[in-house]
Amino acid sequence: MNFKNQTILITGGAQGIGFALSKKFSTMGANVVIADKHKDTPNLAENFGGFGYVCDVTQEEELNNFITFAEDKLGGVNCFISNAGTIFVDPDHVASASNKTWELSWNLHVMAHVYATRRLLPGMLDRKYGYLVNTASAAGLLYQIGDAPYSASKAAAISFSEGIAISHGDDGIRSSVICPQYVASNLLGFSDPSDAETIEGLLSPTVVAEKVYEAMCREEFLILPHSKVRKYLKNKVSDYDRWIDSMRTLKKKSIAKRGSAKPLDILHLV
Ligand SMILES: NC(=O)c1ccc[n+]([C@@H]2O[C@H](COP(=O)([O-])OP(=O)(O)OC[C@H]3O[C@@H](n4cnc5c(N)ncnc54)[C@H](O)[C@@H]3O)[C@@H](O)[C@H]2O)c1
Repeated sequence: MNFKNQTILITGGAQGIGFALSKKFSTMGANVVIADKHKDTPNLAENFGGFGYVCDVTQEEELNNFITFAEDKLGGVNCFISNAGTIFVDPDHVASASNKTWELSWNLHVMAHVYATRRLLPGMLDRKYGYLVNTASAAGLLYQIGDAPYSASKAAAISFSEGIAISHGDDGIRSSVICPQYVASNLLGFSDPSDAETIEGLLSPTVVAEKVYEAMCREEFLILPHSKVRKYLKNKVSDYDRWIDSMRTLKKKSIAKRGSAKPLDILHLV
């Protein structure tokens, strides 16, 4: 697929992976409109010659207004990358996060994808053309130790993305799900992309955007910027019990070496 002159909408576009994707697609000739809850989003979009819109993607009406804003500026939407997200940390045991946290995780990582698809799919089906992309996470394929709401909601995001591909792939709708492992963005407390060089396996948002762009040009469904994740996934499906054991071992190793098994501790061990 060639993205030149295509209209691409990207949520969570004010920083991190979303911003790097926006710059990459813009450089490749796409017309990019970003949404983010950051107040500076319209100014940030000027960096890559695009448009920016401030909204909370967990609110269906606000997300719909963002899409209408983009359509008014540029016409029909060709591609939507639903990318906004955040992490949580289990305060204690696996079910200890509050209902408020679970609801936010569900609304941000699942319903925001559903709202965008619900708003855009009818028009895309009429035109028999459109590309719907959701940023999930390797955590949805492999589990993020220490963050149950994140892992469960990202697994649901992958399932919903599979649904788009299976239900509408024959209707001219392309779809992908992006499943990065660790990326040096604010989400993990990294303010400088060069931090990616300090920890093995950590990629910068720019590198992730390059890999995602290439995979989207090939219209790959499962986009894995970290190649190791495919190997881990194969291990998981080939022997689920052994995989659970290996994840328990990783947790024990984290506690022994770092004193805890929170997501930012595990990052240093994979
Ligand atoms: N950083 C990683 O290690 C990593 C790994 C796997 C997956 N991901 C996923 O990649 C996506 C992008 O993450 P990132 O690393 O660039 O993080 P980031 O924190 O740098 O960027 C996320 C952006 O989403 C925006 N956002 C969050 N909630 C929002 C809301 N309700 N409405 C509108 N905007 C909202 C934030 O303001 C922020 O600009 C997320 O879905 C994340 O779960 C990140």
